[in-house]
Amino acid sequence: MNDGTRINNDLRTRRESALAPSYQLFYDDPVHLVCGEDVWVTDVDGNQLLDCYNNVPSVGHAHPRVVAALAGQAAQLNTHTRYLHEEVVRLAERLGSMLPDGLQTCFFVCTGTEANDLAVEIARTVTGQHGVVVSEHSYHGNSSLVSLLSTDSYPAALRPDWLGVIDAPNDYRGRFRADDPDLNGPDLADPDGGDLGERYADLVTIELDALNERGHRPAAWLVDPSWDSNGVLVAPDGYVEQCAQLVRAAGGLVIADEVQSGYCRLGNDFWGHTSYGLVPDIVTIGKPMGAGHPVAAVVTTPEIAAAFAERRSYFNTFGGNPVSAAVANSVLDVIEDQQLLRNASAMGIRLSTQLTELAARHNVIGNVQGGGLFWGLDLVADRGTRTPIAYDDGRRLATELRHDGILIGLTGPHTNVLKIRPPLTFSSEHVDRLVEVLDVRLAKFELRGGSERRQPSAES
Ligand SMILES: Cc1ncc(COP(=O)(O)O)c(C=O)c1O
Repeated sequence: MNDGTRINNDLRTRRESALAPSYQLFYDDPVHLVCGEDVWVTDVDGNQLLDCYNNVPSVGHAHPRVVAALAGQAAQLNTHTRYLHEEVVRLAERLGSMLPDGLQTCFFVCTGTEANDLAVEIARTVTGQHGVVVSEHSYHGNSSLVSLLSTDSYPAALRPDWLGVIDAPNDYRGRFRADDPDLNGPDLADPDGGDLGERYADLVTIELDALNERGHRPAAWLVDPSWDSNGVLVAPDGYVEQCAQLVRAAGGLVIADEVQSGYCRLGNDFWGHTSYGLVPDIVTIGKPMGAGHPVAAVVTTPEIAAAFAERRSYFNTFGGNPVSAAVANSVLDVIEDQQLLRNASAMGIRLSTQLTELAARHNVIGNVQGGGLFWGLDLVADRGTRTPIAYDDGRRLATELRHDGILIGLTGPHTNVLKIRPPLTFSSEHVDRLVEVLDVRLAKFELRGGSERRQPSAES
């Protein structure tokens, strides 16, 4: 047994007795990382792995400017939002200036969950309505309120009556599909039909009616513009605008959960929602904002913030502390100075081309979906039926890729979508390396016929 294996075994045993069993580890033989630099991480045995999975270290692992901002402010002062502080105000002003007109008033919190929890509380308080509309198989966080909005996390039978759940707009695997000339059956809400975006948006009308019958009107539609937990989706034209219009007509607000899609991730713009021409009422921000440091935010209009403040006070001990604000400001500085939006856009084009070519060589890739530096490869046992590969096959593939030096993940309702979501500093060289490794590994996977061993199951 080498030193690394012994250290890992010991640490794992201690972890199992000291940490709650709720915590899961990636991989059966867990990765024990000891340091990181840019898009590379190093494990306890000294193996270097290309990080194709982690968006939290948005500007790369251990970025020297972020480390310096954190250390500098920590060495000077750390308090909270009840004292004046330049870094905190500057961060709020910067976020406001980067969002569409009107979205300029900030609340600071520590996690994406807290941001969504507060956003929904604001929407309920301001509208006087209680319902919330989310997607099937959504994930928005884990507080007692937000876990109910995370439909991937608990059985449908336990959904509260104020929750409206709509299909995610998956044009490859969903009930309406891009390649279906009849768009897959009658449009329930509109017998005259409509395009793909309209078909999916019509499901909002149906769900709002159902909510109404249960005695609720919507306070908000909470949407992740990358549909990460659905396998990383791009919504059909018109979908987002129509959903927003329907919810607003029923008196609700639109909350864009930018925890995944924000900070240049989708390559078109700094925010995910702008790709859809949407101006939300509330935006929530988390993960990439502190490049690994826990800082998150809710941004809304002065009017909504004022209406909330009339009825509720809000304070968060750690939310908006000067160290977190200094870190978040340094992340924005790096994004600007290293032109990481431009990089996400260029690497998105490179990935799009290379992943499409990869799909032409490997039948196991049923669909390539996403944009910028956020992609999903929907892996199938059979392209004709779109049957997802088996869960165990997906896990084995991710493990093999880890041994090939690639950190990658799986997502989607069937856990069959290979998720590519690296730090924003991912370069051409890294794209080429990833695709080269995938090419070899997928060929071996197909040769082995891994997916033939799966149990047949119904497709969604
Ligand atoms: C879209 C989305 N929203 C919110 C959250 C919750 O963020 P946190 O884990 O920081 O509470 C997540 C976490 O994965 C997420 O993916």
